[in-house]
Amino acid sequence: QATHKIAVLPGDGIGPEITKVALQVLEAAGKSHGEQFEVKESLVGGAAIDATGQPLPEETLAACRASDAVLLAAIGGYKWDSLPSASRPEGGLLALRTGLNAFANLRPAVVLPQLADGSSLKREIVEGVDIMIVRELVGGIYFGQPRGFSTNDKGHKTGYNTMVYSEPEVERIAHVAFDAARKRRKRLCSVDKSNVLEVSQLWRQTVTRIGKEYPDIELTHMYVDNAAMQLLRNPKEFDTVVTGNLFGDILSDEASMLTGSLGMLPSASIPSEGPGIFEPVHGSAPDIAGQDLANPMAMVLSAAMMCRYGLSLPQVADDMEAAVTSALDQGFRTGDLMSDGMKQLSCSDMGQVLLKAEQTSGNGF
Ligand code: NAD
Ligand code: IPM
Ligand code: MN
Repeated sequence: QATHKIAVLPGDGIGPEITKVALQVLEAAGKSHGEQFEVKESLVGGAAIDATGQPLPEETLAACRASDAVLLAAIGGYKWDSLPSASRPEGGLLALRTGLNAFANLRPAVVLPQLADGSSLKREIVEGVDIMIVRELVGGIYFGQPRGFSTNDKGHKTGYNTMVYSEPEVERIAHVAFDAARKRRKRLCSVDKSNVLEVSQLWRQTVTRIGKEYPDIELTHMYVDNAAMQLLRNPKEFDTVVTGNLFGDILSDEASMLTGSLGMLPSASIPSEGPGIFEPVHGSAPDIAGQDLANPMAMVLSAAMMCRYGLSLPQVADDMEAAVTSALDQGFRTGDLMSDGMKQLSCSDMGQVLLKAEQTSGNGF
């Protein structure tokens, strides 16, 4: 029997609602394998700004550093949208990612057979899609210097950011991506904009050079505009994708719609050492917050990724994923996934269904 220290950051909007469900399912799944979780909740994002004036208080970062893994729901909301970049809720999330050096963001987009009709694309296009987007998370235009605002002598304001990658930054994310491809269908597509950007030319050269160490992996390159189109035209052509911070942010939201809903997509943000951050791809969904309408599955699946990649508890992860498939098999859906003939549930009722699925499957589902 082992105890795992989890730093839990519910954040804003639907964050607390989906966190509650994920922790229930996590604890039940752990229990059936003799694993216990010591959960410490901390403030991040808008909730932290309101309580302390900071989107990432020092105590929160310290609690995350002292944990075995960080489970984060979502941050942000209209209330804090006019604050300067670094003081916004989003600034807290970015500071957490850099503070833990969680540079490799794994964003799987898998179309479950039960949801193949839930996509806005035709069933035959999306059925069987299984993509792993490997997004660089602590570099690129999100963090490049210089950045800011200036005013010229005519009084015109300018806003600017810098997209920058160094060779070591590209090398380490490339290694993660090639290793991920090796455990999958052995195909890696690197996405860039090297027909225009120097930063992408260095990206492409570096990924190509690292690829020589992985002769068993088929490496291709694609411009990001074409990749955005191919993801909708023929998503099954993709296996593993590696790309920079901004392109990965956009393409992963796009990929979510292949699966039926953004509310289904989990992610793992992995450092070279120390605790990783496990968080859904979606945000705080302020439009539905506080109404018990959110889909908790992305959060439950993020907790499963935490077990798999952060805590080496693959069986607990399997059980949690099985609870999600079982709820879908039984026709239970939250509003974002509703279609004819399905049973619509609130977030908390879906939590109860997941819990029951977890408890009745026991272990070894
Ligand atoms: P969003 O992902 O919060 O919402 C986009 C749309 O998807 C909304 O209509 C929302 O209702 C729906 N949606 C998202 N998650 C859902 C779920 N689990 N169940 C049902 N429906 C769901 O993106 P947005 O509206 O562009 O951003 C809202 C806030 O979230 C912003 O402040 C943004 O910066 C922040 N954000 C945070 C994260 C994060 O914490 N990791 C990620 C993305 C956006
Ligand atoms: C995500 C979000 C974040 C990002 C924001 C909220 C900072 O959109 O996790 O995808 O852009 O990385
Ligand atoms: Mn995003």
